[in-house]
Amino acid sequence: MSKRLEVKITTEEAKRQDEIISKLSQHIKDKGLTFFIGTFGCQMNALDSEKIEGVLTKLGYTKAASEKTADFLIYNTCCVRENAELKIFGKLGALKHRKKKQPNFMVALCGCMMQQDVVLKTLKQKYKFVDIIFGTYNIYKLPELLQTRIETGENIIDIWETHQEIVEDLPSIRKHQFKSCVNIMYGCNNFCTYCIVPYVRGRERSREVDDIYDQVKALVDDGVKEIMLLGQNVNSYGKNLATKPTFTDLLERLASIDGLKRIRFMTSHPKDFSDQLIDSIAKHDNICKGLHLPIQSGSTRILQQMNRGYTREEYLDLVAKIKKAIPSATLTTDIIVGFPGESDSDFADTLDVVTQIQYLSAFTFIYSKRTGTPAATMENQVDEDVIKARFNQLVAAVNTIAADFMAAQIGNTYEILLEDSSKNDATMLSGRTDTGILVHVKAPLNFIGEFVTVQITNSKTHYLVGEIKVSEDL
Ligand code: SAH
Ligand code: SF4
Ligand code: F3S
Repeated sequence: MSKRLEVKITTEEAKRQDEIISKLSQHIKDKGLTFFIGTFGCQMNALDSEKIEGVLTKLGYTKAASEKTADFLIYNTCCVRENAELKIFGKLGALKHRKKKQPNFMVALCGCMMQQDVVLKTLKQKYKFVDIIFGTYNIYKLPELLQTRIETGENIIDIWETHQEIVEDLPSIRKHQFKSCVNIMYGCNNFCTYCIVPYVRGRERSREVDDIYDQVKALVDDGVKEIMLLGQNVNSYGKNLATKPTFTDLLERLASIDGLKRIRFMTSHPKDFSDQLIDSIAKHDNICKGLHLPIQSGSTRILQQMNRGYTREEYLDLVAKIKKAIPSATLTTDIIVGFPGESDSDFADTLDVVTQIQYLSAFTFIYSKRTGTPAATMENQVDEDVIKARFNQLVAAVNTIAADFMAAQIGNTYEILLEDSSKNDATMLSGRTDTGILVHVKAPLNFIGEFVTVQITNSKTHYLVGEIKVSEDL
């Protein structure tokens, strides 16, 4: 039996940092300093950046008009694939010059990439000008790190190996008034053999149900209609907590909150998707029916090598069970192409599963070797040209399925939550159905954050176009 991970949940540390904020803020306000946060990676990082923005705003910084004009530039980094890291090193190269020209300009780096020794070594050797470096476990300490940097004039590197404390009550500035992400757990215990996340985000630590409930309730009271619950594997929520609540227990509590129209969650690991969870999603109107269920590969042999903990057949059975209990469910997924040892027949299995399941969309990734993970030293890494050809074939298959799915929706009526203005056409807004389908409609800007009923008139590969039928809530 595995030992329970002792996790201390505290609000005291947030208070201590708050005192530092009070001391520092006058100095920052007097100088009229501005900040810019560049966020890379997944929604975990996006949510961390909202916390960093909350702290900086409390400290008296204002948001810079652009990255180029900021007095304080923070990059919240990702290292899930090599490309993500190359982007950061590219940006740092360009900053060296600016640092010389703009003496008060400060640069901080944080996030997953910083948790790797090999990255720290390179930064120490080649990018000595970076003022503050911190990691994924100590974001809440930013006021203290900044204070030390200002008072001593020395560059600060504060990276922790691990952490078993969850600090509640950090200030945060959310991007949208009407929707918000909420962390329900941190870290990951799965150690998929290709993945760096468990090494840079540590072991699974769940927040208490009551703390999550209170936060969601407060968000709803503040106008939030949709929440996205975040965890690397939400289906194993609660295992480190004394009362062992399950993810279903948590969902049931949250679904009862009046005014909370939509609950989404990611990511669900197929190996831990319980029957109770399926029942709970089926039962509650406000639990969304668009499910993200990463498959990674359609070959049982490769899934075993990846340490995913399910076979192709078990995944297909799970999907069949979900579709039976929730006929309107749509599925999205993540797939890796070119994992070491992937043969033509393994890849054919992946294509076959994609065709059987008819995903609404699939995030497709070329396998990227991550130093320190077991897959990095596996023999028979697949040839680059072979991977590229397979990747293109997969993307084409996924797109054909998505386009067919979208075309079949013409004439249907959906309720959508309008979220954004369209990038290409100012008169158009975009929103999502409960099943996660992207829909564009002609609507005024002040409809953002409202639910509308839309009839679908046209389709593209990755989105639908519709007309507003009835507007509720207005
Ligand atoms: N915890 C989530 C996802 C974490 S990372 C889950 O298990 O589903 C998001 C996606 O990045 C993964 O689902 C996987 O498809 C992809 N990924 C992770 N490591 C990768 C690597 N080394 N190379 C290519 N893709 C990778
Ligand atoms: Fe990575 Fe696997 Fe954990 Fe997801 S479940 S974060 S893919 S180790
Ligand atoms: Fe997310 Fe990238 Fe870290 S995907 S958890 S920001 S390595």
